[in-house]
Amino acid sequence: MNKNNVYITTPIYYASGEVHIGNSYSTVVCDVFARYHRLKGDDTYYLTGMDEHGLKIEEAAKAQGIKPQEFVDKIAFKTSELWKELKITNDDFIRTSQARHTKVVQQIYEKLIKNGDIYLGEYEGDYCVSCETFYTKTQLGPDDTCPTCGKKTKVVKEESYFLKLGKYADRLLEYIETHPTFIQPATRKNEVVAFIKSGLEDLCVSRTTIDWGIPILSNKKHVAYVWIDALANYITALGYDTPDDALFQKYWMNGQVYHVVGKDILRFHAIYWPIMLMALDIPINFELLTHGWILMKGTKMSKSKGNTIYPTDVSRNYGLDALRYYLIKEMPFGNDGLFTWELFFERFNSDLANDLGNLVSRTISMINKYFGGKVTKPDKNYFEEDKALEDLIDTTNKVYFDTFDNFQFKNGLTAVFDLISKANKYIDLTEPWRLAKDLEKQNDLNDVLYHLYEVLRITSIMLDPVMDDTSKIIFNELGLMDTDIDFKLLKYGHTHQSQVIKEPIVLFQRIKIGEELEKIKKAK
Ligand code: MSP
Repeated sequence: MNKNNVYITTPIYYASGEVHIGNSYSTVVCDVFARYHRLKGDDTYYLTGMDEHGLKIEEAAKAQGIKPQEFVDKIAFKTSELWKELKITNDDFIRTSQARHTKVVQQIYEKLIKNGDIYLGEYEGDYCVSCETFYTKTQLGPDDTCPTCGKKTKVVKEESYFLKLGKYADRLLEYIETHPTFIQPATRKNEVVAFIKSGLEDLCVSRTTIDWGIPILSNKKHVAYVWIDALANYITALGYDTPDDALFQKYWMNGQVYHVVGKDILRFHAIYWPIMLMALDIPINFELLTHGWILMKGTKMSKSKGNTIYPTDVSRNYGLDALRYYLIKEMPFGNDGLFTWELFFERFNSDLANDLGNLVSRTISMINKYFGGKVTKPDKNYFEEDKALEDLIDTTNKVYFDTFDNFQFKNGLTAVFDLISKANKYIDLTEPWRLAKDLEKQNDLNDVLYHLYEVLRITSIMLDPVMDDTSKIIFNELGLMDTDIDFKLLKYGHTHQSQVIKEPIVLFQRIKIGEELEKIKKAK
C-alpha cells in the first residue's frame, strides 16, 4: 500500500435543500485535510458530491411542479457554486443521478443478487398511504399516526430486496479489533461494536413504491433504496468496475482512504459500508473519521428548527478565512462545537484581528520604519528570548504535524496561535522601539525583527490549509512568492535577506460586536 496516495471523501449531501453552515463543516474540514496532504507532497484526491434519490426529493420536486432530475440539477448546481465560493479544492463532484453511478450501482445489485448476499423478501412496516412512506415505530405519532400528515398508518407488507448483514458480523468485528485506527476517534468504536453484537437485522435495500431511484436491472419493479446507492458513490467516482479504473487502483487498492462523516451517519459507514465491500470482495482499506455537530446554543442546526445559518452569511460579511478558521478552531475532533455570532465575533477579534493581525502589522511597520523594509539574518542570537522563540517554533511544528495528521485541527491551530501570541509578547519583552533609539543596538534590533519575520513566515505556511488567502497575503507582505509556502521550509533561519512591502495590509478589521449583533437582529 502506498500511504502517499490519499483519497479523502465527504458524505454526499441530500439534494433536498440548501447546505447550511452545519453540513458545510464536513466539506471545509475535508478541504483542510486535502490541502494539508497536498502540501505534504501526498498524491491527494478529494471527492464530494450529492445524494440525489429518494422519496423526499421526489415529493419536493412534485411540490414545485418539476421533474426530480430538474430539481436535483438546480440544487447540485447551487451546491457546487457554493463550494467554489468557499474555495473548496475537490477533484470531483459526484452525483448519484449521473449515468456513471447508475451503471455501477446496477452492477453491484446484480453481483450481490447472484452471489446470494442480496435476496428477495418481504418488508413489513407502518405505512402511510397518502404519503406513500414507511415509518419506524419511533417516528410514529400518537395512535400510530403519520408524523408528516397525521393520518393513521397501516401495517403493510411490500416485496423488497435485503442485504445479508448478519452473515458478515463476525468478520467485521474481527476487522474492527485488528484495525485500531479503522474508527476514529476510538471512543466511537464501542458504540459500533455494541450495535453489531446486539444482532444485525438484514437491511432492506429496495422499494417498489418509489420511482425516483436506480432501477434494479433484473427486476425493474424495484429501485435501489438509500444506502447501497449512496455509499457506492465512493467507488463509482474512482471508476470502479469500469474499463478505466486507474483511480480505483491507485487510491483504493493501493492508497489510503479517509471517509469523513458526521456522527449521525457513523453506523452506516462503520457497518453497512464495510459489509458491502466484503460482499463485493473489495478490501475495506478505509479509515473513518467521525466528527460532531455544530450546535446553535445546545441544539443541532437544522432547517426545521428555523435556526439555520448559511456559510455565505458569514463569509460574505466577515471574510471566507474567518469562516474557515472559526469552523476548524471551534470543533474539537469527535465532539460537538458551537456556532453563535457572539462567539464568532469574539474569536475574530481576539485571534485574527488582535493576535495575528497585530503581529503582521507591527512587524511589517517596524521593518519599514527601522530598516527601509529590509530584514537580514543575524550573525548570532542577541537575546535570551531568541532561543525560547526558536524552540517554540520547533515544538509548534511538531505539534502541528502530529495533530493535523490525526485530524485534530483544533489542537494544531491552538499551538500555532500560541506561537503567534508568544511572538507578540517577545516584542513587548525586547522593546524594539527602545533599541531603535540606540545606534549601537542596530544589530540587536535587526535580530528581533528577523525573529518576528521568521515566525510570520513559518506560521503562514502552517495556516495555509485553513486560510489560504490570508497566508498568501502575508507571504506577499513578506516579499515572498506563493511557491515558498512549502512544508520543507518550516525551519527557523531559512531566510537570508528579504524586502517586505511598504505598507502593512489590514487583514482583519476589528468588529464592533454590539453594533454587529444589532444589525443581525434587525436583518432577521
Ligand atoms: N446523504 C447522507 C450521507 C450519505 S454518505 C454516503 C446524509 N446527508 S446530509 O446532507 O443529511 O448530511 C451530510 C453531512 O452533514 C453528514 O456528515 C452530517 O453529519 C453533516 N451535518 C449535518 N448537520 C450538521 C451539523 N449541524 N454539524 C456538523 N455536521 C452536520 O446524511
